[in-house]
Amino acid sequence: MQTEYRLRREALMSKIGNGTAIFRSAPMAVMHNDVEYTYRQDSDFFYLTGFNEPEAVAVLAPHHPEHRFILFVQPKDRDQEIWTGYRCGVDAAKELYGADAVYPIAELDEKLPQYLEKADRIYYRLGRDRTFNEKILQHWQILMRTYPKRGTGPIAIEDTSPVLHSMRLIKSEAELLLMQTAADIATEAHNHAMGMTAPGRYEYEIQAEMERIFRLRGGMGPAYPSIVASGNNACILHYIENNRQMQDNELLLIDAGCAYGYYNSDITRTFPVGSKFTPEQKALYEIVLAAQKQAIAQIQPGNPYNLAHDTAVRVLTEGLVELGILKGDIDELIESEKYKPFYMHRTGHWLGLDVHDVGVYQHGEDKPQILQPGQVLTVEPGLYIVPGTQPAEDQPEVDPRWVGIGIRIEDDVLVTDTGNQVLTAGVPKEVADMER
Ligand code: GLY
Ligand code: MN
Ligand code: MN
Repeated sequence: MQTEYRLRREALMSKIGNGTAIFRSAPMAVMHNDVEYTYRQDSDFFYLTGFNEPEAVAVLAPHHPEHRFILFVQPKDRDQEIWTGYRCGVDAAKELYGADAVYPIAELDEKLPQYLEKADRIYYRLGRDRTFNEKILQHWQILMRTYPKRGTGPIAIEDTSPVLHSMRLIKSEAELLLMQTAADIATEAHNHAMGMTAPGRYEYEIQAEMERIFRLRGGMGPAYPSIVASGNNACILHYIENNRQMQDNELLLIDAGCAYGYYNSDITRTFPVGSKFTPEQKALYEIVLAAQKQAIAQIQPGNPYNLAHDTAVRVLTEGLVELGILKGDIDELIESEKYKPFYMHRTGHWLGLDVHDVGVYQHGEDKPQILQPGQVLTVEPGLYIVPGTQPAEDQPEVDPRWVGIGIRIEDDVLVTDTGNQVLTAGVPKEVADMER
């Protein structure tokens, strides 16, 4: 992997010319009343270094004669390490992470200027740590004050995201291997969950079994709080209490993914708690399934990003009209967003080091992102007949037989040279496979 990180740094350096890029690690793990929660490195920082400790800064200075990659890290400290865990330290970091120079983080203010004073700009993304932002701005201010003496120095700060995140949007072979493993583990967990679901069981039993598999297979854990939502709970998009006892004749919606080697999967399946769909559940399920399949068919290199969403909206709207839940002309219903009480979210998002991964969706109005090989995105249409939904004035009252049904089907899809590949195809979704 060290070669991979180096290639990423080289690629970024080739794009920033005479600039110097500064990256801050994620801050210390969150503490609640002296209990420390799991540390998660900042994704940009990890993407470029593979280094997963807090209190670190990485600098890329492509124009510097000796040091192009510089790391500032926490020094070895036996007493501290007993409490907060292993630190790589200054000496080993050079060897292990391939930095040209490594300093203790306490020397940042002293050492940083030499990497900035010949740069024409600073690439830095203002982060949540305002004190650190302020530190960078102060360095900049001092360099600009002394600019006349040198005639060199950064005359601008540029956000690194547009350059770096367009790189992160296209996954390498190494990244795709990790993503496929994250998908495979979650696939196993979903299949296991489907097998154990039964009336009388609690949502948390399913959650516990799935998350057991995530760790058992070497995953870091859930990619996001697992959603195990039975009955009406499926209509709450971010339901995470997972504490209800499941009943016969209900659906169970599971939205759960695994993090593996920092990469994520994100899968949703909806199926009967008991053995069979009710006719209403089945009718809505078939619409969502058709919408999802047709949306996935639009994931092709050269297609605009929005096409999958627009396709899903059309299939869902047509289905709702067929069932009498909406009435009117399909185009007008779509134009006036009359489907939105039943389908209120987007059909997907980029997936990678972050679950909602970085990368732009459009390059300005009416200029969508065009799909390219190596991009990975989710396709996740749904229908939610939320209790208490007031239809628009010109629309019928919702027949009570539909109320409380919530369905989503979500897969992770890689854009390939010739079309797409569904990374999560191992979890069934056909009607016949969801019934037992
Ligand atoms: N589970 C988060 C999402 O589907 O976007
Ligand atoms: Mn999801
Ligand atoms: Mn998702």
